[in-house]
Amino acid sequence: MSETACLTIDGKVHKYPVITGTEGEKGIDIRSLRSDSGYITYDDGYANTGSCMSRITFIDGETGILRHRGYAIEELAAGSDFIEVAYLIIYGELPNRDQIASFRNLILGNAAIHQSMFHSFAGFPASSHPMAILSAMLNSLGCYYPHMATNNREQDLEHLDDAATILISKVRALAAMAYRMKLGRPFIYPRGQLSYCSNLLHMMFSEPYADYTASSRVDRALNLVLLLHADHEQNCSTSTVRMVASGGANLFASVSAGVCALWGPAHGGANMAVIEMLESIHKEGDDGTRFVEAAKSGDRSKRLMGFGHRVYKHYDPRAQILKEASKKVFASMRLQDPVLDIALKLEEIASHDEYFITRKLYPNVDFYSGIIMRSIGIPIDFFTVLFAIGRMPGWIANWKEIATGKSSIHRPRQIYTGSTLRKFVPLEERL
Ligand code: CMC
Repeated sequence: MSETACLTIDGKVHKYPVITGTEGEKGIDIRSLRSDSGYITYDDGYANTGSCMSRITFIDGETGILRHRGYAIEELAAGSDFIEVAYLIIYGELPNRDQIASFRNLILGNAAIHQSMFHSFAGFPASSHPMAILSAMLNSLGCYYPHMATNNREQDLEHLDDAATILISKVRALAAMAYRMKLGRPFIYPRGQLSYCSNLLHMMFSEPYADYTASSRVDRALNLVLLLHADHEQNCSTSTVRMVASGGANLFASVSAGVCALWGPAHGGANMAVIEMLESIHKEGDDGTRFVEAAKSGDRSKRLMGFGHRVYKHYDPRAQILKEASKKVFASMRLQDPVLDIALKLEEIASHDEYFITRKLYPNVDFYSGIIMRSIGIPIDFFTVLFAIGRMPGWIANWKEIATGKSSIHRPRQIYTGSTLRKFVPLEERL
């Protein structure tokens, strides 16, 4: 028998169907609430709102489970790579040999950037934040593929396979070009024989007179970072992509908006904020104890960055994987970084502190990802850019769900709390 939820308003009982997901999670379908009763629901920050039904990623925040298309993140991290996981997320199944070979070839074949785009970079001052450049450039990229960025759903969908590989490939080149432009150095062309991650590092760090060659250890570490960022259900940037897509906007415009949403320090920008925090703790000669005390004040600006999560009330499984990986990377490169020691100490203090325990605040993905990126030479203001490169498959898959689904334009309601009707006062009569 199907389950029903009852809501009593002014003595009248309204019944709503309960929807059950494939993992048993439940939601009350209140779509007819307003027409039934004149009421809407109020849920600031959408903390308790299911905005869609999705088949891509499952998270159980209470127990720390993350799965893409049914596969556990731990298994994907151990046995797969970023490009294969990108395929899985976009197409729903692990690829066979032919499928992955053709996907990798398309990504490689799309590595270069149209020469005319080179000039666009000259329009940015060197002080520009790379996330601003990346967002603008992804939107501009759509202008080079007008037949794929039409805002005509059928036509955009017809070219989705090409658009997806273009974006996954070129977001990496655009990121590297933003880095080179800021340094005033010439752009470096991609190489046919390099892997996805090694090519990114080559385009960032090689010089016309000297090649940068990523070691297999560095390549693997970067691969892991990107893989662990590939999708995370209805987070702020993915919800933004879906919102923009729901109005009928093309994939390029939608992911460009996703980059802007990701930029904020409560979302993707947290990976930069974590390193800034760890460095300032180190500079002040604190072992983390004073910082943790201050973080409990309730002042948002003093929060322990890289801690807490809207969905995880348990250790973020991505943070667990990255914590172990960062220890291995540091040991294998014989690196010593006081920032890693401070991070481990902060986690240790917080894990025994009543404030963090009762609020279920654990390290999230951003707590250890910056430490790995720093160890492989990524500059701090590019950490969030790398997050964007990693999140691209998730944005594409979510755009696809909107474009192929039946949902109407996303348009939430509000509770108006401003002035009631007042009479207009001409300027000369105003005090
Ligand atoms: N340090 C100290 N206190 C915290 C922290 C923190 N990092 N995070 C939450 N709290 C406290 C908060 O003050 C509140 O306490 P009280 O109940 O006494 O008012 C309680 O925990 C609940 O916090 P909230 O702000 O209502 O929780 P939220 O679900 O709205 O926010 C969050 C989630 C991730 C924005 C928040 O935990 C935070 O600001 N963390 C630091 C920034 C960060 O690491 N962001 C990356 C998120 S993971 C990657 C991604 O998805 O982008």
